[in-house]
Amino acid sequence: MQGGLRERLSALESEALEELGRAGTPEALEELRVRWLGRKGRITRELQALGSLEPAERPAVGEAANRIKAALTELLEARRESLLATREERELAAERLDVTLPGRAPRIGLPHPLASALEELTEIFRGLGFEVAGGPEIETPYHNFSALNIPEGHPAREESDTIFVGGGLLLRTHTSPVQIRAMESRPPPLRIIAPGRCYRNDAPDATHSPVFYQIEGLAVEEGITLGHLKWTLEQFARAYLGADLALRFRPGYFPFVEPGAELDVACIFCGGRGCATGKGSGWIEILGSGMVHPAVFEAVGYDPERVSGFAFGTGVERMAMLKHRIPDIRLFYENDVRFLAQLA
Ligand code: DAH
Repeated sequence: MQGGLRERLSALESEALEELGRAGTPEALEELRVRWLGRKGRITRELQALGSLEPAERPAVGEAANRIKAALTELLEARRESLLATREERELAAERLDVTLPGRAPRIGLPHPLASALEELTEIFRGLGFEVAGGPEIETPYHNFSALNIPEGHPAREESDTIFVGGGLLLRTHTSPVQIRAMESRPPPLRIIAPGRCYRNDAPDATHSPVFYQIEGLAVEEGITLGHLKWTLEQFARAYLGADLALRFRPGYFPFVEPGAELDVACIFCGGRGCATGKGSGWIEILGSGMVHPAVFEAVGYDPERVSGFAFGTGVERMAMLKHRIPDIRLFYENDVRFLAQLA
């Protein structure tokens, strides 16, 4: 064999081996195999070119090319296997779970303070024999006002307080329309409370929110007196706010009751000495109430000569604020979990 040819073959071999050393992935190896040993690969072409050599040279060159081919094939295969093994090891390692790691505690949801207050207040009234009734939040002016003896032209009907939604309807401004709906739907006697959302066109501040909750109460049957009202309200206020609570029952005006009364509790912030919360009086109003007005009974077809009743309406946020000493109603609606979790 010519010295030149021998050298070319060994140069080819070392070039192939060097490339092999650099191929770091099974894909690179495959590409290398095609380039060297494929149908148009460099070694293959070397073997195809044998025919153009001197017959005497053919065996030696053929043998050398075949040896390189065999060696390269074997090395390729070995390297491919080891690369695959490393890759699998790496993948397994990435998937490994450390079962000794401490767990991540899931954060558990909590009832909203208003939901808890509504539930607690509802339970108190259930215990006093009241059942829960409901009504729509979108109301007719008739149920929200007229049937409650609030005539047209009354300040409470003005746009500034009421949110109208079109079609002559409005967002109820209090839960009192549920009184009307309950009495329209069945004859006396009845004893209901109606917890629910109300809406007023008020700018939010520490004591006002355009959305808020009330609980309405209504008891109607023969022989109901102001004494029943007073006793019921005392039971309720003491059950929720504390047994030794100082209470004050004083006259108040609402178109749908006669006589009307408001219930005050001694201010929890100043203990009755007088502060901004109680507007200096030391007392905080917690509800409006009274004996159902005959005009209301007439609107629903009840006979005011035969039955009497009492009604009341209280603000749920106001009650919860007093119980938990919460200074600002907006806290209920901002949904800062640091606040919500404290009351849970
Ligand atoms: N509806 C009144 C309000 O929103 C509260 C109220 C006062 C309800 C007297 C009553 C009542 O049932 O008798 O301010």
